[in-house]
Amino acid sequence: MAKEQVFIFDTTLRDGEQVPGCQLNTIEKIEVARALEELGVDIIEAGFPISSPGDFNSVVEISKVITEPVICALTRAVKQDIEVAAESLKFAKRPRIHTGIGTSYYHIYHKLNSNPEAIVERGVEAVKYAKSFVEDVEFYAEDAGRSDNKYLARVIEAVIDAGATVVNIPDTTGYTLPDEYGKKIRYLKEHVRNIDRAIISTHCHNDLGMATANTMSGVINGARQVEVTINGIGERAGNTSLEEVAMILKSRKHLDLQTRINAKKIYRTSRLVSTLMRMPVQPNKAIVGRNAFAHSSGIHQDGVLKRRENYEIINPRTVGINESSILLTARSGRAALKHRLEKLGYSFTREALDRIYDKFLELADSKKEIVDEDLKVLAGSSARDIKRNLHLDHLQVLCGKGTTPVATVHIEWDGTTHSATAEGNGPVDASINAVKSILNKKVRIEEFLIQAITRGSDDLGKVHMQVEHKGVVYYGFSASTDIITASVEAFIDAMSQVVKLSGS
Ligand code: KIV
Ligand code: ZN
Repeated sequence: MAKEQVFIFDTTLRDGEQVPGCQLNTIEKIEVARALEELGVDIIEAGFPISSPGDFNSVVEISKVITEPVICALTRAVKQDIEVAAESLKFAKRPRIHTGIGTSYYHIYHKLNSNPEAIVERGVEAVKYAKSFVEDVEFYAEDAGRSDNKYLARVIEAVIDAGATVVNIPDTTGYTLPDEYGKKIRYLKEHVRNIDRAIISTHCHNDLGMATANTMSGVINGARQVEVTINGIGERAGNTSLEEVAMILKSRKHLDLQTRINAKKIYRTSRLVSTLMRMPVQPNKAIVGRNAFAHSSGIHQDGVLKRRENYEIINPRTVGINESSILLTARSGRAALKHRLEKLGYSFTREALDRIYDKFLELADSKKEIVDEDLKVLAGSSARDIKRNLHLDHLQVLCGKGTTPVATVHIEWDGTTHSATAEGNGPVDASINAVKSILNKKVRIEEFLIQAITRGSDDLGKVHMQVEHKGVVYYGFSASTDIITASVEAFIDAMSQVVKLSGS
């Protein structure tokens, strides 16, 4: 059986753009419109032309460059709005005017100071007037979510008779529950005499976090157009998100419904909109959030590595994300660590991996997330650790403004622990003096370089050191979130070669 089509009406550039701080200039809007066309949306609501010259101009320019999707312009049920919208659409290959009026008790009496009869008339007049400019006219019954179903059916029947090709049933205030919204759509399907002459559209807001659920309930009950935005941006808590509905329809095959969305373009469109609108996507946002395909607990990581489907219902590649990410944190297990090390080209014996894992846990306790750069350091220093005959067991430093830095070190040297305390002109100098007093070798530090590996103040500090002894230069390296410890370890790393090569 052929799947039925659900039309995707994107209102990122109209309802989405109404969000404070998200305004785009015409060039940016054209870029988004092009991305939406590539994504495969059926209708682009390009703006509300009467609202500003900028909006008008954007609809004109978008109409010129977009060829496939219908270009839609919003109006109130006001003649001048409709005239301006028609003018803005004059270059559109497939223009649509989206006009409408409030149909709830609040809107009729407290916003429009009107009465139910007059509202039906205004709706009908608006549709007829829009129809004199374009063939494709969509009518919205604002606040339909809170409108009386019987009255709503009357309005919808009248505007379809007037020529509306699409009837939009907005849950403007995001008030309804999925069951209620679905029943409303079903009611209209069953009680509007001429409903088969128009497509029913959903337009849900997310005030109670129900936008996607309500939209889906509307679709299941007969709506065949969904009004959505990229990343769910929109007034207040936002609109229904395009990517969620598109992926529900794609992954829940039993619904026998399809869209024209090219899912592979979802992620990059989401990034584009987020960047241009300066509106970050919440990390746990379904489909496009940073964590949508990231696994952090040991059990889940192990499960995903055994078989992706154990913990993922969508392959991230389907939406244009290269692969699931295994976040390495203190809760990760050996399997995840081994997997990431292998991807970086390292392979270790079981014992070596155990050692790295211990170091990894130590580091993960002091740093929220371990990145590849950290792992390379852990893997490298672990290999050097094995070969060393000197190890720093303990380091305590007293320092700060107005005090003379003093350090106490405990070093394991060929299986025996040695301790010493020394002063210096700083914490590193004091610590190295203490180590020198144990090793009793005449050495000179020729180079001492400290570097932060990635970004924040919780980063690993990398230390490279060159130590000269009897004309020979020895190299030491270490990394730690504590740069004093890293400095002493780098010195010990170099000194372990001095001791080995020149005898203890
Ligand atoms: O939420 C709403 O009711 C709207 C209409 C103007 C379609 O955005
Ligand atoms: Zn809206």
